[in-house]
Amino acid sequence: MGKKDKKARRGPSDDIDWDELRAAAVEAMQRAYAPYSRYKVGAAALVSDGRIVTGCNVENASYGVGLCAECGLVSDLQMSGGGELIAFVCVNGHEETIMPCGRCRQLLYEFAMPGMLLETVSGIRTIDEVLPDAFGPKDLEEATR
Ligand code: THU
Repeated sequence: MGKKDKKARRGPSDDIDWDELRAAAVEAMQRAYAPYSRYKVGAAALVSDGRIVTGCNVENASYGVGLCAECGLVSDLQMSGGGELIAFVCVNGHEETIMPCGRCRQLLYEFAMPGMLLETVSGIRTIDEVLPDAFGPKDLEEATR
């Protein structure tokens, strides 16, 4: 890692601009495709290099294959250069903060920097608090060693 990269790298202990992140989630929510549930969701996360990635829910006539906002977010993360997530928030159509569903906590865990923060309905939480004893990449490494 070069000097420049080191300087740019951010972590959960830095000050997080939650207002900026929530505004990005609201903007993403406005692009949601939710004609079936009529429940729009937008998600935004701060990445270790300082960029913000976002996603919205995209439903489907075959209800079960609809995509949560977090699916779009991790795709945005990967497509725009990867990195680790350091802070996350998601909102509904009323711009209220909501909890990521269980499956999406797992999606986020895959790319979470240790100590990643989430703005939740009960305040700022870490990824370990919202997904305790998570199954993750390390479990596979240990099993296939
Ligand atoms: N939804 C998300 O996009 N993310 C979540 O974490 C919770 C649920 C979406 C899925 C569906 O399109 C709608 O909200 C209602 O469940």
